[in-house]
Amino acid sequence: CCTHTLKGKNVIVTGGGTQEAIDPVRFIGNHSSGRMGFALAKAAVLAGANVTLVAGVSTLPTPLGVIRRIDVTSTYEMKNAVDQYYEDCDLVIKAAAVADYRVSHPAQNKIKKSEETLSLEMEKNPDILYGLGQRKTHQTLVGFAAETVNVLEYGMAKLKKKNLDLLVANDVSAEGAGFQSNTNIATLIFPDGSMEKLNKMEKYELAAIIIDRAAAILTQKNTS
Ligand code: C5P
Repeated sequence: CCTHTLKGKNVIVTGGGTQEAIDPVRFIGNHSSGRMGFALAKAAVLAGANVTLVAGVSTLPTPLGVIRRIDVTSTYEMKNAVDQYYEDCDLVIKAAAVADYRVSHPAQNKIKKSEETLSLEMEKNPDILYGLGQRKTHQTLVGFAAETVNVLEYGMAKLKKKNLDLLVANDVSAEGAGFQSNTNIATLIFPDGSMEKLNKMEKYELAAIIIDRAAAILTQKNTS
């Protein structure tokens, strides 16, 4: 599938889920396993890149050849890690499942069981990828869109809004796609409106294709 190289390129990959604290022992999280992100980190290494893996919550081992792994828990921590390496970076792939909201006032101590109802106030997290898109100079940005309805339409809108070079849209409600699965079903969406619909395949195979298409975009940017 793959002929383009990332030799000597600096690549940031995010993977896994984030957690937002409610109190010292509880959090709000999601079902991300980190499989897609870690497969992308591996594929980028194999394509010759210097890979920084910013890992949210995941139990997976670091793929061989990754030069730097930064473990983070919350969306804010992920943003700080990604921002720190963004300037010198050539390609960012944001496969992490990021919490859109955080608890406004996490409790200092464990919340005791008392009332019949418990309300948590939440506030919006910064959109890491949107911020990168705003500050984009030479970087190539790849985003993911996990949707359950109107996958392609929402995907195209997201690509434009976040100023991306490639968006990987997948229907997380489909059989053999999404969070805990070893396989995925994705459509690649490009800024010119073209799409590449891919069959169901193993996440590492999909990762290799995404890395190849991203490398092609980098090559094209350097020659035009
Ligand atoms: O959450 P949403 O569907 O908009 O996510 C699309 C892309 O934006 C994903 O690549 C995700 O990792 C990224 N994202 C982010 N920061 C957020 C929310 C999403 O970087 N706060």
